[in-house]
Amino acid sequence: MKKSSPLSRSGRFSSGPGRDVAKFTESISFDRRLWRHDLVGSIAHATMLGGIGVLTKAEAKRIVRALEAIGDDIESGRFEWDESLEDVHMNLEAELTRREPAGAKLHTGRSRNDQVALDMRMWLRDELVELELELRSLQQALVALGQANDSIVIPGYTHLQRAQPVYFAHHLLAYVEMIERDRERLLDAFSRVNVCPLGSGALAGSTLPLDRNQVAAMLGFEDSRGRPVVSQNSMDAVSDRDFAVEFCFVASLLGVHLSRLAEDVILWSSSEFDFIRIADAYTTGSSLMPQKKNPDVAELARGKSGRLVGNLVSLLTLLKGLPMTYNRDLQEDKEPLFDSIDSVRATVRLTAAMLQHTSVNAGACAAAAADPALLATDLADWLVGQKVPFREAHHLVGEVVGLAEKLAKPLNRLTLKELQGVSRKFKAGALEVFELKQALAKRTSTGSPGTKEVKKQLRRWAKRLG
Ligand code: ARG
Repeated sequence: MKKSSPLSRSGRFSSGPGRDVAKFTESISFDRRLWRHDLVGSIAHATMLGGIGVLTKAEAKRIVRALEAIGDDIESGRFEWDESLEDVHMNLEAELTRREPAGAKLHTGRSRNDQVALDMRMWLRDELVELELELRSLQQALVALGQANDSIVIPGYTHLQRAQPVYFAHHLLAYVEMIERDRERLLDAFSRVNVCPLGSGALAGSTLPLDRNQVAAMLGFEDSRGRPVVSQNSMDAVSDRDFAVEFCFVASLLGVHLSRLAEDVILWSSSEFDFIRIADAYTTGSSLMPQKKNPDVAELARGKSGRLVGNLVSLLTLLKGLPMTYNRDLQEDKEPLFDSIDSVRATVRLTAAMLQHTSVNAGACAAAAADPALLATDLADWLVGQKVPFREAHHLVGEVVGLAEKLAKPLNRLTLKELQGVSRKFKAGALEVFELKQALAKRTSTGSPGTKEVKKQLRRWAKRLG
């Protein structure tokens, strides 16, 4: 910064930083995206300074008008950012002061330390509101795909081995539940983002009678009862970034959930499973193999989780060992936070869109679900109905499975005589357990993949999501 700059922080420095230093220390290249929140924060601060007499009413009014005009210029692309002015705060204040001499009074009782904490909290608040809506849309897409295919049954897997039959919709609703908890975590984190740090100054507040509650109320930092929420310790307010870490954690876990969903989509769309078809627009071809249709959107949804976790680790590592209070290291908080928001929001949106353009291959699902081995456990349950202890029933059915393998027959093709060769406890009704429809009707407890229960859960979610 040149000494002649209106924003010269101190008369102490005879020359500005060298070019390499300026490039190393600048943040304007990435923090300019905070401009709107920086202006809104400054407008509230100026209004409050007018209220307590630090600015005359006329000065406050002129400053507010000039800040609004700067906002219009940025919006319409007429504003020129000056790389030599370090960050978004200095750029906007320099421009204000150029347009309005009273602008030189705006920074009274304020530091960039509480200002940047304010901007980031306001910015994150807005992003969280958008993300919450996007999560709702994703849940709706999952429920809609389930509803459109509510009679489709697929094998459920453990260890990626066929285990027991489930409705396709039940599998999708598992993700709706996961995303619901992510949503709750997001809303909970919101309450800790929504705290106004302005008035904390550089680290030790101000000697001026700042009206912090007024600023907080103007900027929407209010609790559920409409009372202003302001930070209670000036040192904490300028030095911690736990609200950003917390968001990055919520985004990481959400990203991990989305990654697992993406993995299921990728498997299901492979020739080996062939359960679903993703619309062409959400896939790409190969530059070499003409037959290929690759699930790139799902693969990138899976891949993005890596950077979400990385950003969380970056922030935690950044904060560890910082002495109180503000340290310039904290400028490194922005890129990981911005990247997490951008990555997770795009992943949520694209996953929802891909699901809206995915169809189910009923034939392949039915063929896979017809595997009678999926109902081996039902056969053991049938023996339990004959008062056989489950451990013994499990063992007997294991023998039956072995016999079927030896005879190279599917389980449901064994005769009663063959079953009775394993145990006299098998009676005529035993083979009826292999009726898939009946097997699913029998699963009636809450949370199970039974016919009525899954329909009930689909209705519950559809109603809840509106
Ligand atoms: N660009 C800085 C940041 O993002 C703003 C705060 C600078 N404060 C300071 N005392 N140098 O952290």
